[in-house]
Amino acid sequence: MDKIVVTGNGPLKGQIPIAGAKNACLTLMPATLLSEEPLTLTNAPRLSDIKTMTTLLASLGAEVSSLQDGQVLAMSSHDINNHTADYDIVRKMRASILVLGPLLARYGHAVVSLPGGCAIGARPVDLHLKALEAMGAELELKDGYIHAKVSGGLKGAQFEFPFVSVGATENALMAASLAKGTTVLKNAAREPEIVDLVECLIKMGAQIEGQGSSTITVQGVDRLNGATHPVVTDRIELGTYMLAPVITGGEVELLGGRRNLVDTFCDKLEEAGVSIEETKTGLKVKHANGRVKAVDVTTEPFPGFPTDLQAQMMALLCTSEGTSELHETIFENRFMHAPELIRMGADIEVHGGTATVTGVQRLKGAPVMATDLRASVSMILAGLAAEGETVLSRVYHLDRGYERVEEKLSACGAMIERVPE
Ligand code: EPZ
Repeated sequence: MDKIVVTGNGPLKGQIPIAGAKNACLTLMPATLLSEEPLTLTNAPRLSDIKTMTTLLASLGAEVSSLQDGQVLAMSSHDINNHTADYDIVRKMRASILVLGPLLARYGHAVVSLPGGCAIGARPVDLHLKALEAMGAELELKDGYIHAKVSGGLKGAQFEFPFVSVGATENALMAASLAKGTTVLKNAAREPEIVDLVECLIKMGAQIEGQGSSTITVQGVDRLNGATHPVVTDRIELGTYMLAPVITGGEVELLGGRRNLVDTFCDKLEEAGVSIEETKTGLKVKHANGRVKAVDVTTEPFPGFPTDLQAQMMALLCTSEGTSELHETIFENRFMHAPELIRMGADIEVHGGTATVTGVQRLKGAPVMATDLRASVSMILAGLAAEGETVLSRVYHLDRGYERVEEKLSACGAMIERVPE
């Protein structure tokens, strides 16, 4: 397993290109199962999670060709010959559960391993199952697998989510697009990745409206066609790299970034004293004058402050002037980066879902460990600003969601390299 070594090297300056969204691509790829015609995705990110989804779809009989250095995924589900998603793939990546809705909608049955929990929480899939049952699916849990079937095809239904779930909204949307009749999803997720999925499904012939709002209406159709669709820009990668110039006191343009993808996040950064300018080619972020002000953060479903940027924001606030309160409301265990930041000299107290961060003048480089995807990159951000060398182990977490981190950051003057363990 590789390690990444970061040495604090002053202000970052330059440009960072932002890739297509991992969390959009991971729901767009299973959409290929809904049609026998080819679905091609462009602007796909080059990440290990995408490779895992590719392996899963191939295990079902789909063809997935990765072209143009992984930025184009040409997929065909003409010859699906297996409707079982095995535990050994599903356990690697929870998003594997997103093959359940499409398989059920197109073939009337599916066997999908329960994903199991992960570092940041139990992350059950009960809402996915309840939404599909509302459409007529019969589900049985046996030996760690979900056995799903429906005779005569799924039927449109009214379903209200008791709380917002991105994945359950995605599964329900894909299933409803081929159900007989109308489905109305209430308290649906509003994330840009949901909007991107709906726009792709509409290109395939689905009849959907309300995407981006809490109520989405789907008029089921008999079949879906192929399409070509560009993956939306990754707002979490965007937000992550926006913090690199801020924590080092530099100026960086994030190419492809648009403010509407990270509006609340930008508001919070401006409250902390950061300047953000939307240019023709992206977002220019600058923070030249000293430490940022302390600000309080509460994570919420979109359009609120993204939980996937909480760890990164904590790294920044460790260097701020004053004391900040971070409230994590989406996951029950998403502060594992705190002990690692404390090893770097941060002053953080965690009580349940709240972390109280008191900024320090300078963090100190140290050996630290990645515990989950977003925690791993928050260590990198801290290392960019810290005095001395930070050595991050278990970087496989990082490679799930960030392509070519060393390349992108060293192009802006960071001292960062990947070394074999
Ligand atoms: C998606 O996960 C993202 N992953 C996550 O990003 C992101 O943190 C999360 O949405 C919230 O925005 C992908 O899109 C692949 P949820 P998902 O269903 O769909 C609970 C990253 O770093 N819940 O919105 O799994 C759940 O436990 C990853 O890229 C149920 O209880 O998230 C959580 O507490 C991490 N039952 C809350 O709801 C369910 O059936 C929100 O989960 C489903 C979810």
